[in-house]
Amino acid sequence: MKFIIIYLQNLTLKPSKKFFELVPNGITSMITFVGLGLRDSRDITLKGLEAVKKADRVYAEFYTSRLSAGIEELEKEFGRKIEVLERKDLEEESWKIVNEGAEKNVVILVPGDPMIATTHASIVIEAKKRGVKVGIIHNASIISAVAGITGLHIYRFGKTATVSYPYGDTVSRTPLDVIKQNLSINAHTLLLLDLNPEPMTIPEAVTILKRVDDGTLNHFAVGIARAGGDSFIVCDNFYRLKNYDFGEPLHSIVFLGKTLHITEYEFLREFASPPDNLAEIVE
Ligand SMILES: C[S@@+](CC[C@H](N)C(=O)[O-])C[C@H]1O[C@@H](n2cnc3c(N)ncnc32)[C@H](O)[C@@H]1O
Repeated sequence: MKFIIIYLQNLTLKPSKKFFELVPNGITSMITFVGLGLRDSRDITLKGLEAVKKADRVYAEFYTSRLSAGIEELEKEFGRKIEVLERKDLEEESWKIVNEGAEKNVVILVPGDPMIATTHASIVIEAKKRGVKVGIIHNASIISAVAGITGLHIYRFGKTATVSYPYGDTVSRTPLDVIKQNLSINAHTLLLLDLNPEPMTIPEAVTILKRVDDGTLNHFAVGIARAGGDSFIVCDNFYRLKNYDFGEPLHSIVFLGKTLHITEYEFLREFASPPDNLAEIVE
């Protein structure tokens, strides 16, 4: 019996090593991605701030998302000099950051949740391969805030898509295709809007998608501006979202599934001034 227990204990799988460290305690070299949350310099977590204060070097990137705060405000609030990274610094030239992370405590500030931007996964993998420690300090993301701000159930969302600026005369059909796939399983679609060269607004996104529409878009959607700050949301027919002044970006859109759960409807009725006929899609 004793032999069998010892044998089973040996079979128990245990992680071979801890993959992510959090705040560098006694660790003198690592790369820590710190999420900045959704709006300004005060959305950072206490753990994130602690990592910033302990870092030898603090970088930030704003090409995957933005905050309302400028770099000066962040520097003042965190009491640290912050160097802004370009896209190439974290993609083609990511080895430079990985080299630095092998010798120093390097923090990279990222708006929202750091890993809700697929580009950062490659630097984590590269660092791991080279034996450089990596930490991730999570924060709120548009992906989580969208449920809180609209009342839409998170498990009723399908794939997310991004509305890009036209390339020359060509408008990408991907968001429309994703909406169709999601509608086929009665799921909502979160549409993120392009950030470069300037953050796209909801009226611009509606105008762009109209160019590829085949009638699919004649349905309800919710426009969301500045989640996590002085937010504004409105629910209406997708095309009518073009007529609202949503104010400053960042903006996102949720294209609704074919039907709504009663609590989703009630939430939108309380907070998003929908038209009366939204009640027709309550299941
Ligand atoms: C790549 S995504 C955001 C990634 C970020 N790391 C995160 O976790 O939120 C960038 C897009 O998300 C949307 N977005 C981000 N923050 C937002 C906010 N506070 N309000 C509305 N939309 C937002 C915008 O459409 C923006 O172009």
